[in-house]
Amino acid sequence: MTATAAFVLGTRPEIIKLAPVITACDRRGVPTHVIHTGQHYSESLDEVFFEQLDLDPPDVNLGVGSGSHGRQTGEMLIGIEEQLLSVEPDVLFVQGDTNSTLAGAIAGSKLDVEVAHVEAGLRSFDREMPEERNRVLVDHAAEHLHAPTEETATRLCHEGLPDDRITVTGNTVVDAVRLSDERAAATSTVLSEFGLTAGEFGLLTAHRAENVDGRDRFADVLRGVAAAAEELGIEVVYPVHPRAADRLAEFDLAVPEAITTVEPLDFFDFLRLESTAALVFTDSGGVQEETCILGTPCVTLRYGTERPETAFVGANCVAGCRPREIRAGARRMYGKAGDWDSPFGDGDAAERILDCVGLDGEPAGPDRRERTVEPGE
Ligand code: UD1
Ligand code: UDP
Repeated sequence: MTATAAFVLGTRPEIIKLAPVITACDRRGVPTHVIHTGQHYSESLDEVFFEQLDLDPPDVNLGVGSGSHGRQTGEMLIGIEEQLLSVEPDVLFVQGDTNSTLAGAIAGSKLDVEVAHVEAGLRSFDREMPEERNRVLVDHAAEHLHAPTEETATRLCHEGLPDDRITVTGNTVVDAVRLSDERAAATSTVLSEFGLTAGEFGLLTAHRAENVDGRDRFADVLRGVAAAAEELGIEVVYPVHPRAADRLAEFDLAVPEAITTVEPLDFFDFLRLESTAALVFTDSGGVQEETCILGTPCVTLRYGTERPETAFVGANCVAGCRPREIRAGARRMYGKAGDWDSPFGDGDAAERILDCVGLDGEPAGPDRRERTVEPGE
């Protein structure tokens, strides 16, 4: 009988980065069961990515939604356990560092299901970040640690995790970008819709709790990005994540004129802006990686990063959050050629991950989903 792979995902970046692994299972004829926690539920953070990445809708959506960390994670845990008991998968994939990732890893671990952590070994060494606590806990619960780079694998060894659990696979974000960037270039009309010229605008994403949940810090970030944009003579587009939108309203914070706010973008439109921007300002993990892959200079609006490889190759300046730090970072990165080598692998991470967990499946035609399953198979 062919082994079954279960997936727990719940947020925008997990959908994007697990999509290549789910697709690779389909290619190999490995049956999948996708459990969506419902952590992200707005259409613009959820369904649109399933559509653009050619994924079937999830097999189940637990509909957990927003809430405090404990309540959200606890409700997910209950729902995921029920699913695992009924599906009995051979492997459970989780990705990254969100509350959905943590709930999946704990649920799998308690039931002795093999947990595979995609994007293992990242550390910001900032335990104030909920994501840092999540990733440490998940790595220590998982049987399979799919480290994107040598550095992340080494870090896992330093934490005493056994060598035979760790494999360097590359980051599946490269697979996702490779699958989508040509389609984005061919189909996205976002530049003309927003009246932008390639190479003459900046792109901003800011949604991290530590940047937007305090009024002064969020105001500093916006002031800094606007001042940098004015100095460089570029305008900036800011697709606003719902958490940040809530805070802007709650704090009654005015966004400076140099920054145009828009709704969260779909993957193709966002990739198109990322690959044609003069400069990207961000506190997102995935955006630091994608800009590095796409050759666009990045200014990170934080005091540390769990993706230091992006800075080592010269793609990213971890600038900080005060206006003068952001301006200095922008000056340093603006106009960089973008000819660095990406440290995140060659776009075959998903295949390596399946090899590593022994999911060989069976040879499958392109229309495997329509195939009838024989009794006893
Ligand atoms: C979560 C992750 C973060 C990741 C981000 C990706 C955790 C602890 N955080 O942060 O690591 O970078 O996802 O985008 O898991 N909201 C909506 N619609 C939605 C989802 C959320 O309006 O579909 C609003 C709600 O007001 C909610 C707030 O956004 O309270 C925050 O959502 P939540 O899922 O708690 O965390 P994120 O900030 O999205
Ligand atoms: N992204 C997107 N539309 C947007 C902003 C981001 O499609 O308006 C994508 C981006 O390409 C990347 C991912 O969302 O793949 C990053 O997610 P996010 O910043 O929410 O989370 P993080 O990576 O910080 O955990």
